[in-house]
Amino acid sequence: MAARKPKVIVTRKLPDPVETRMRELFDTELNHTDEPMSRAQLADAVSRADVLAPTITDRIDEALLEKAGPKLKLIASFGVGVDHIDVAAANAKGITVTNTPGVLTEDTADLTMALIMAVARRIVEGANVAEAGDFHGWTPTWMMGHRITGKRLGIIGMGRIGQAVARRAKAFGLQIHYHNRKPVSSRIAEELEATYWDSLDQMLARMDIVSVHSPHTPATYHLLSARRLKLLQPHALLINTARGEIIDETALAELLRSGAIAGAGLDVFEFEPKINPKLLGLNNAVLLPHLGSATIEGRIDMGEKVIINIRTWMDGHKPPDRVIPSMM
Ligand code: DGY
Repeated sequence: MAARKPKVIVTRKLPDPVETRMRELFDTELNHTDEPMSRAQLADAVSRADVLAPTITDRIDEALLEKAGPKLKLIASFGVGVDHIDVAAANAKGITVTNTPGVLTEDTADLTMALIMAVARRIVEGANVAEAGDFHGWTPTWMMGHRITGKRLGIIGMGRIGQAVARRAKAFGLQIHYHNRKPVSSRIAEELEATYWDSLDQMLARMDIVSVHSPHTPATYHLLSARRLKLLQPHALLINTARGEIIDETALAELLRSGAIAGAGLDVFEFEPKINPKLLGLNNAVLLPHLGSATIEGRIDMGEKVIINIRTWMDGHKPPDRVIPSMM
């Protein structure tokens, strides 16, 4: 007799090839509308599913997990960040949580470099001028940005994405500095010619560009507080492709508006999809709608990881991308 296929409930629309494969392999319920599920719909899903496949926009907290049925044994999240899931509460109920690390590293690093270039070289401002028909000819002093070669880049969080940014930045001629819970291996430090700063405050005060790559955890919430942001030099640029919660956005907006910080490139915001209105309308800020991993290839690879995690769990093994709370 064929084994029963697990009931997998997917909360958002995923790339077509991923959905097709999930339907072949599992008893899959898809979300064709791509409207985020309401709390009631999520509660219904956790009460019926063997596996929930949520995304980073679904809040899976302890209260929701209280509604989980006895069958729910795996939350296979589509995304690398897990700050939307109470992993400890899930684990306490015997539910394993997995994510999709690794496959969006290069795409997120590419977007980080794009933001560095966009802010330093005023690319969005320039494109808007051209589009508006306001280009009246080249002049020696118009629309000048800043060279990035030779500048100091301070990376906060030297995990996979931080290192991928460092590799690209080094190729652009930037000097690599970083703050992390602990130094990277000597092999990586040598490859990147990277300088470790134990003190975040001291690093911030000396960088030309700062880029955030830490996960959002209680320890990193508003890590870049108003006090810390004030340590940045007036010509400094701040880039964030990690999580909005890591920066005090209101303080950042004020510093950008007053010119106390030269520019910012932000792909993530504290209250997504809402963007702090104080950040809007600043010509020294480039804002993107959380596009870090938004490549077709990356999103298919993320789906593939979700499938592998579910399949491994079905086969009675530990899924490869288990999230372990102590390592977050
Ligand atoms: C993630 O997977 O956590 C990313 O933020 C999505 O772009």
